[in-house]
Amino acid sequence: MSTLPPVLHKPTLPVIGSPLFIISNPQLVIEQCKAGIVGSMPALNARPAAQLEDWLAEITETLAAWDRAHPEQPAAPFAINQIVHKSNDRLEHDMQVCAKYKVPIVITSLGAREDVNQAVHAWGGIVLHDVINNKFAHKAVEKGADGLIAVAAGAGGHAGTKSPFALVQEIRAWFDGPLALSGAIATGGGILAAQAMGADFAYIGSAFIATHEARAAEAYKQAIVDGTSDDIVYTNLFTGVHGNYLAPSIRAAGLDPEHLPESDPSKMNFGGGAAAKAWKDIWGCGQGIGAIQEVTSTADLVARLRREYQAARERLLRP
Ligand SMILES: Cc1cc2nc3c(=O)[nH]c(=O)nc-3n(C[C@H](O)[C@H](O)[C@H](O)COP(=O)(O)O)c2cc1C
Repeated sequence: MSTLPPVLHKPTLPVIGSPLFIISNPQLVIEQCKAGIVGSMPALNARPAAQLEDWLAEITETLAAWDRAHPEQPAAPFAINQIVHKSNDRLEHDMQVCAKYKVPIVITSLGAREDVNQAVHAWGGIVLHDVINNKFAHKAVEKGADGLIAVAAGAGGHAGTKSPFALVQEIRAWFDGPLALSGAIATGGGILAAQAMGADFAYIGSAFIATHEARAAEAYKQAIVDGTSDDIVYTNLFTGVHGNYLAPSIRAAGLDPEHLPESDPSKMNFGGGAAAKAWKDIWGCGQGIGAIQEVTSTADLVARLRREYQAARERLLRP
């Protein structure tokens, strides 16, 4: 565990609700923050780009009103995810809107950029950069990221192949700043395990897809309730980068999840129309969904994680 910047002391459960392409929206972010965990969404989910300003206004005003009404239980801070890959032609616009709203936490993925980090620092925010190996972790910190998100094997969306044990121990050997761990975490015990390994936060995505607030088809939510790790397929076919997806959605698209071709790396695309189409029909999902038994509200999901986390701590501390 590390010394955290003040903004990361605010969550009352050590969890960051991770950004989910297409799925995260202001309702999900607001409910996550009200429940005491960091809420986040990709800037690219606001379409057209002008909608980002409306969404940031809605999030900041709603959370400020919540804080006034509940001074004893203030909301956790929120984060906006920026895809800093060259295929994102909205980055400059979206960064300007984030600057206007002084977004407290920016999560960067797919590349690390010094200019983006400096811009966030200029308005008083912090940057967490997501990485799938120790080499990228070094690069991100050299370029000025304040903290890291270790995306281990089994994570939903673009995921790495490293064991969380290997990844966290290699990063913690030299980095004592804020560190979140992601990959198949869906229980309170999993959150405590991430901390026991040396992470400060669990970074949880797929579990939040099966909430009322998530902008996902009901069939997608139900597939998460019904599925287990056996239903998750790791492939680079859909975006050019390896990620985890639900097999039933691949079958529904007329493909055989057991025999998928390799992708063409020159067609990498993370933000444009083709990417949106792939992610709409082919459902990204991590391996942790065996713990998801129902579609529920975000508040109820966080309440379950909190209960389980407290129970796990008590169990471990018992003499
Ligand atoms: C459907 C889906 C969409 C995602 N979209 C993004 C994204 O736009 N940006 C990003 O940085 N990570 C994205 N991720 C990755 C998550 O932020 C996070 O790393 C992952 O969900 C954590 O693993 P878990 O799903 O097993 O909890 C996505 C994951 C999923 C499942």
